[in-house]
Amino acid sequence: MYEDINRCGDSGIYGHMLRNWNFQADDTGAAPSTEFWSVVGDGATISVDVDNGLNNVNTNSLRLDVSESTGRAGVSNEGWWGVRVQPGEKYQASFFAKSNGYTGALNVTIETADGTVLDSAATSEPVSDKFQKFEVTLESTASDVSIDNLFVVSVDSAEAAGSSIYFQVFSLFGETFEGRENGLRKDLADSMQGLNPSFFRFPGGNNLEGQTVDTRWKWNETVGPLEERIGRMGDWSYWNTNGQGLLDYMYLCEDFNIEPVLGVYAGYSLTGVSVPEGDLEPYVQEVLNELEYLTGPAGSKYGSLRAAHGRKKPFNINYIEIGNEDWFSTTYEYRYKTFYDAITSAYPHVKIISTADQESRPWDIFDDHYYSNVSEMEGLFSKYDNYGRNGTAIFIGEYGTHVNGCCNGSPASLEAGLGDAIFLTGMERNADLVQMIAYAPMFKREGHEQWNPDLIHFDTETVWYTPAYYVLSEWSKNRADTILQVDHTDGEFGPLYWVAGSNKKTKQVFIKVANIGDTEQKVTINLKSLAVHTEGVARVITGNSLDLENSKESTTVKPEESTFKLNSANDFEYTFPAYSATVLLLHIQ
Ligand code: AHR
Repeated sequence: MYEDINRCGDSGIYGHMLRNWNFQADDTGAAPSTEFWSVVGDGATISVDVDNGLNNVNTNSLRLDVSESTGRAGVSNEGWWGVRVQPGEKYQASFFAKSNGYTGALNVTIETADGTVLDSAATSEPVSDKFQKFEVTLESTASDVSIDNLFVVSVDSAEAAGSSIYFQVFSLFGETFEGRENGLRKDLADSMQGLNPSFFRFPGGNNLEGQTVDTRWKWNETVGPLEERIGRMGDWSYWNTNGQGLLDYMYLCEDFNIEPVLGVYAGYSLTGVSVPEGDLEPYVQEVLNELEYLTGPAGSKYGSLRAAHGRKKPFNINYIEIGNEDWFSTTYEYRYKTFYDAITSAYPHVKIISTADQESRPWDIFDDHYYSNVSEMEGLFSKYDNYGRNGTAIFIGEYGTHVNGCCNGSPASLEAGLGDAIFLTGMERNADLVQMIAYAPMFKREGHEQWNPDLIHFDTETVWYTPAYYVLSEWSKNRADTILQVDHTDGEFGPLYWVAGSNKKTKQVFIKVANIGDTEQKVTINLKSLAVHTEGVARVITGNSLDLENSKESTTVKPEESTFKLNSANDFEYTFPAYSATVLLLHIQ
């Protein structure tokens, strides 16, 4: 499940390395400023110019006034809490510029805060009095990773003296996932890949809905070249550039080979406002336009817009979620019905996900969210055991175990990870019904989060994983296609929670066990008629205290792999450590 929260989009997995790159608004959504930019050189000043915009979306520019002087004059950007330079990495930089007098080249550098140039390139075309796009490639000569760096565009002051230079729509990307243009920061995308995902729910969460109807996420403002994208005030207290937009999310799904689960705005925003039934039509049309943009032939109105944006081939959309957490509203009944009717009549094959109870129309899948503590997760373990099976499925669209209260200040500790292991195990036992599950929130920039706990932590330099990440990754990588019946002869669930399954294709048996207790548990396991090889593999996540957390400096809690011997082809003992989440893998003979 993905939305821009905890600074995980702009500044996070969206690989754009510069901050305040198009001067549409400041970080709080207020009037644009030069924040995160500094002037380079003594004989120059910078300001936001409101009279020299690039286009009707980017109506301002960053203006550099050069007075007569010597040395350099330029603008520097400090990035998102730094500009990361890695040995051997290539950087694609671009920006628009014009000048009322200067006609030379522009020097582009990445340099340390104290002025040591790490990479440099000059534009090949001269600046003119009309905005044009400049693109350069830089290649790091640095031997170490560093972040205390600046991105600088400068000129020789003597040559530019008396002129103003106007800049707009800067971009800087290092290595991206699959080399995708305008793509994903590679280490964060790799961390997502490590979860072995099957689908991607986007763009929210709350960040779909907007605090107000007007500040909802609007697909059409997130597509096209960067210079045409309109930012918005996100729902998590900071400006969203929409540099990462609808098409980028679809490319992400393709690059990961995963199914898009598209959340669509359904007429409810977070200050509690619902669009009246009689006024819904334009919002429904907005969704239909979005779907035509994604799935329509290149000859259709919005399909041709997609083609103009570089993607001729239509995408497939098989899952659409109408709204988000609509139990907060009292109006889902009429809103769901209206969106459901419009979407299903145009796209009858799509599976519709409902987010709240309503009786007006059916659903294929129901989205339940659980942010709960460990004892609540123990209770939820069996929630779906006796739940009605009526042909619809459950989607856990968001879950996460907290330790001392949802949804802030809670550590991403081993205890939280084990709560997740219990919950995941209970859901897997009901996998006929609970067909999809997603942790939320997925990422946080350390120290800049709005929600805790989160699965993957990062800063400008690197990424590190929580115990919950490793639990989900292990549970996800070791997937059964059949859940096996388990008869237990001694005791009920707790402190041990288990599920067993097999996979015909890989010829594996998986036994997944969470032990939330403070003592080890020795268990005799008999596979009955299943015959397996007499050596198994155990992947164990454990630690000597529930409070253990991973940090940037140290990954204390992570899976450790070992092998174990069976007594025979279907019989063995295994001791599950205190505070542990374990996957036992056996190979069918
Ligand atoms: O995951 C954080 C938030 O929790 C989501 O935006 C929202 O759907 C839920 O309340």
